[in-house]
Amino acid sequence: MVHCDLKFLTDAISKAKDSLVEKTYQAFEQIENPEGPWKNFAGWYDYPQKNGFSELKAIKQYIAGLDEKYNLVLGIGIGGSYLGAQAAYEALTPRYITIKPSLNKNIKPLMFMGQDLSARSMQELLEVLDQYEPMVCVISKSGTTTEPAVAFRIIRAYMEKRYGDQAQNRIVAVTDKSKGALRQLSQKTGYKTFVVPDDIGGRFSVLTPVGLVPLALAGVDVESMMQGADQMFATMKDKNHAVHHYAAARQAAYAQGKKVEALSFSEPSLVKFGEWWKQLFGESEGKNRKGILPMSLLFTTDLHSMGQYAQDGERIIFETFLKFNQIPDAQLLVPSAEDDLDELSYLQMQPIQKINAAAMTATKIAHYDGGLPVIDLTFERLDAKTMGGMFAFFELACALSGIVSGVHPFDQPGVEDYKKNLFAMMGRKGFENLAARLKERL
Ligand code: PA5
Repeated sequence: MVHCDLKFLTDAISKAKDSLVEKTYQAFEQIENPEGPWKNFAGWYDYPQKNGFSELKAIKQYIAGLDEKYNLVLGIGIGGSYLGAQAAYEALTPRYITIKPSLNKNIKPLMFMGQDLSARSMQELLEVLDQYEPMVCVISKSGTTTEPAVAFRIIRAYMEKRYGDQAQNRIVAVTDKSKGALRQLSQKTGYKTFVVPDDIGGRFSVLTPVGLVPLALAGVDVESMMQGADQMFATMKDKNHAVHHYAAARQAAYAQGKKVEALSFSEPSLVKFGEWWKQLFGESEGKNRKGILPMSLLFTTDLHSMGQYAQDGERIIFETFLKFNQIPDAQLLVPSAEDDLDELSYLQMQPIQKINAAAMTATKIAHYDGGLPVIDLTFERLDAKTMGGMFAFFELACALSGIVSGVHPFDQPGVEDYKKNLFAMMGRKGFENLAARLKERL
């Protein structure tokens, strides 16, 4: 399902990696053990097995029973409460679907709100909604995060004005089973709800209703995604599985001064996957003044921006190439031309996909020769099943790598600091002293 090629690591990193695999596997045993130290945080590990398929069935039933006709889905959430759904949607649906819906009639546009506090962006989105019959999926595990809460207050008002009593049938909430403002609000208004399990944190929740509800509403094949994840989780018990070697190689590279990991891929549809991946690793590992800094590169686009730094800048990067044996619908050839004015005859009748793959390999060798150790991860086929497998693979890799590095991979205490300052600056009750201290400093 996934192959990890470490031929382009340095010898020193390879050796260090080998001695870390055992430690990585011990971390895995802690995750796998339902009574282990991470038992309140590792619900994502066996979620497909335990609840995933039954939850999917409930979601499908809910969608099939909807009386409301809708032609757009609006997901409201931030961080782990939207990035996974956005990553899967972008990777699995045609890129130009909103401009040309006939590209796939089963897929509805899926838009997102609640990830920023930009008035302009919210205003523009409201204008777009006017052109559609929207279905709204509001997602917040805590139910109290400011950005989605503000966005949802705007959308609630919009939906109630537009649909009156029927608005509540066009809104579904994904939140904690009992706690938080969104749960209370849903109870009061009668919104349909799905639950974010207690033992699954936001960035590990894409395979729960957090990702499944918006994706299923939009028509994405979530069944195959769940199967792919389930199969991947089952195979990762093997000590020789790529996940253990990848997690160990990351930590080995970090220990040798490679403090930045670039995830490089050559499909534009994976840009949002890169955002999901960055949040997963960044929020899980960036603690106690340490952690690998995750960045993502789209090839060949970014070779004309960050490529220079990767090739020749400070030697603090190691690179993980994300590749696929098959990309569906990738049949285009470079046309032949009678003249050779553009000097491209050497590429004539060559598949574009082949040139793209060659560009990846050419870059890998150039970067390696320039002093960047490279990990190659190859998945089977860029489709829903593989996407589920990729979510499972990177979730486990992240947890293992974080545990090996000595941090708590499932909390995010650092995110609270800006929130407190914002509460104080905007006059929230209980933050008066902080507000005064901030005012003195500004
Ligand atoms: O990974 C995480 O836990 C975070 O990124 C959260 O998903 C994010 O802060 C949103 O939180 P919530 O779902 O509680 O609104």
